[in-house]
Amino acid sequence: MTATAALPFTIAFDPRDEDELMSRWRSVIRSQRWSEGEQVEEFESLWTKWNDATAVAFDNWAGAALAALDFFNVKGEKVLCPSNTFLATPRAAQLSDAEVVFYDCNREDLCGSFDDFVRKAELVRPKAAWIVHVGGHIAFDIVRIANYCRERGIRLIEDCAHSHGAHWNGRRAGTWGDLGIYSFYATKTISTGEGGVAVARDPEIIKHLRSFRNYGRGSNYTIQGMNHRMHEMTAALAVVQTRRMEEIVAWKRDYAREVLDRAHPNRVRFPDGMESGFYKYIVFDPIEKSTGRVYELPCHRIMRHEVDLPNTDWVAANHWCAPIYYPREAQTPKAGSVERVALA
Ligand SMILES: Cc1ncc(COP(=O)(O)O)c(C=O)c1O
Repeated sequence: MTATAALPFTIAFDPRDEDELMSRWRSVIRSQRWSEGEQVEEFESLWTKWNDATAVAFDNWAGAALAALDFFNVKGEKVLCPSNTFLATPRAAQLSDAEVVFYDCNREDLCGSFDDFVRKAELVRPKAAWIVHVGGHIAFDIVRIANYCRERGIRLIEDCAHSHGAHWNGRRAGTWGDLGIYSFYATKTISTGEGGVAVARDPEIIKHLRSFRNYGRGSNYTIQGMNHRMHEMTAALAVVQTRRMEEIVAWKRDYAREVLDRAHPNRVRFPDGMESGFYKYIVFDPIEKSTGRVYELPCHRIMRHEVDLPNTDWVAANHWCAPIYYPREAQTPKAGSVERVALA
């Protein structure tokens, strides 16, 4: 099998975790506590440790995004958003009654451009902004954008839907801005089918997120939240997946280095100290069996905004993704090396 031939899509779930998962599910059933119980607590504490920021579990990324935007009170305000992202990112701001202003990306990393961020921020004075870590690496301009936002009082939310396992010199996504939000949707590097988690270091934000996901409880109902709680069954899955995450990502890194890098010299190249979680393996040459693009159509085009974003349009037309799925064959007691993976 060549590096460009498609591996069948597999959800990264290791059979070694099946017994533990079943036993956790059994204990949930017997506990008579199917929500707001020990599994969510354990998952949050595991993720907090991994991310070095307090974690709050949600039903999905979207619930956490609405909670964050509610905390920043963006109603009637401008929110900057990259166009090269999933529709969820601008849609969450739109549904929070903010005005979305799109900014351009870089061609090198597909993520938000500092220069265009500043240009748009000077023009529209946003209250908040999104940065999206597209494809599994950290946005190359994250430090400059986060510093700029801090100086100007712009609240920065990191869309970490793809960032499982990624770090830059040990620092995880979601810790440069005010908060970060991960998705555990079915296609993600680790998944619970549906699910999400928000991370932040400010206790006021954490308090708000916890209350918002639970109809405003704990705030005297001053916070107008809804139900965005994570189910105990989902949280049990999140626990075993979080424990397995580093191994899954290590396999992906090995596969990228030992197989894909040789075949694809014209690819996203990371700065020193940055390790991608390889949600996607992004190249700039057409490949025979691409798994499609990260995004086919930029959000400013979907939402019909009359704005010129040349890099975003360039990226949409000029990148492809080589398959990089953690295969079931790798899910053996000694997983982690591509030699042990049945590639033929
Ligand atoms: C960049 C990005 N943001 C947000 C989301 C939304 O996540 P969820 O489906 O968990 O709401 C996704 C994908 O699912 C995504 O790729």
